[in-house]
Amino acid sequence: MSRKATLRAAVLGMGFIGELHRHALADCPGVQVVAVNDCRPEVLAHYSGLATYTSYQELLKREKPVLVSVCLPTYLHAEATIAALDAGANVLLEKPIATTLKDADAIVQRSARGPGLVMVGMTHHFYPETVQAHQWMSEGRIGRPLLCRDYAAFSNTGLPGWYGQPELAGGGIVITNGVHLVDRLCWLLNSSVVEVSGCVLRVDPAFQVEDNAIGQFRFANGALGQALLSWLPQNPNTATLEIYGTQGRLVVHSWQGASLEQAGKTIEQARYYQPGLSLAEVTLVGLRPEVQAFVDCVRRHSTPPITAQTARDTLAVLLAWYQAAKEQTTVQLRSR
Ligand SMILES: NC(=O)c1ccc[n+]([C@@H]2O[C@H](COP(=O)([O-])OP(=O)(O)OC[C@H]3O[C@@H](n4cnc5c(N)ncnc54)[C@H](O)[C@@H]3O)[C@@H](O)[C@H]2O)c1
Repeated sequence: MSRKATLRAAVLGMGFIGELHRHALADCPGVQVVAVNDCRPEVLAHYSGLATYTSYQELLKREKPVLVSVCLPTYLHAEATIAALDAGANVLLEKPIATTLKDADAIVQRSARGPGLVMVGMTHHFYPETVQAHQWMSEGRIGRPLLCRDYAAFSNTGLPGWYGQPELAGGGIVITNGVHLVDRLCWLLNSSVVEVSGCVLRVDPAFQVEDNAIGQFRFANGALGQALLSWLPQNPNTATLEIYGTQGRLVVHSWQGASLEQAGKTIEQARYYQPGLSLAEVTLVGLRPEVQAFVDCVRRHSTPPITAQTARDTLAVLLAWYQAAKEQTTVQLRSR
């Protein structure tokens, strides 16, 4: 692919994250967003300067985009990603990869055939505070990681209805938000989950899925981890991760900053965000470099930082968490 060629881009699903993908793609040098898709005509009415389609199959056939962001509800991820690859595009697919391992495996297998690339949009690999924590971990600044805890709480007020339907979302907060916690713990620890146990709660009767949950993990490198998730109307939007090692501790306050401690003293601390940013504004802080990384991989035809296989393995951990909660047992997974 020529470094200079303008890359034609399209976004499928113009809800919360699709609109942010459109912004982030439009900000990338050498990328032109040419078309958007949504099944709701009233949503498409906002995009008068672009080609608009209620059918993504039609969009792919007529517009032949090189870059496609798949931002549809999760149950549509596999069919849309495979259709885009079959149409010759490269795909940036929103998390989680799919609702089932069958769908995730279909994406992995189709993506292995190429030539289009698939990158899964795990935004936390691109927020500055998690990038900093990853650097400290890579440098061994806390020694050998022993114990970690990740916690996320979000308000569920105003969530689109499909998030509350198990067949459309694949589950509740575990699959929708727990995916970020499991993914970023594995990434920071440079390890995989080999054992899972957990519990889930369904508090809000309007949801047909769990809205609060706790998971416990053993990692292949011997570290132990815990994840705690909460959707309640009164929750702030917050996420905090701690990793304790043989020589120190690091803390990531998502959408704020990160700190590193050794011998009980803070030795490095960074803050990255002005106060008062909206959820869309903070999301764009991670999404812009994520989209740029995808575009760079397409131009160089290099392996994306988060492959379909990595995202499939994360989904396997989340589904094991559900199984462990249902059967009140501990589920073993193969180490990668
Ligand atoms: N990385 C992140 O931080 C992040 C944040 C939010 C959402 N997401 C993920 O992005 C995906 C979308 O989430 P969202 O919050 O933007 O959802 P949303 O409901 O706001 O948007 C989905 C859009 O898809 C459209 N749609 C539904 N079915 C369609 C079809 N068959 N054809 C065309 N359009 C269709 C809907 O009309 C809607 O506008 C989910 O998989 C979610 O997990 C990721």
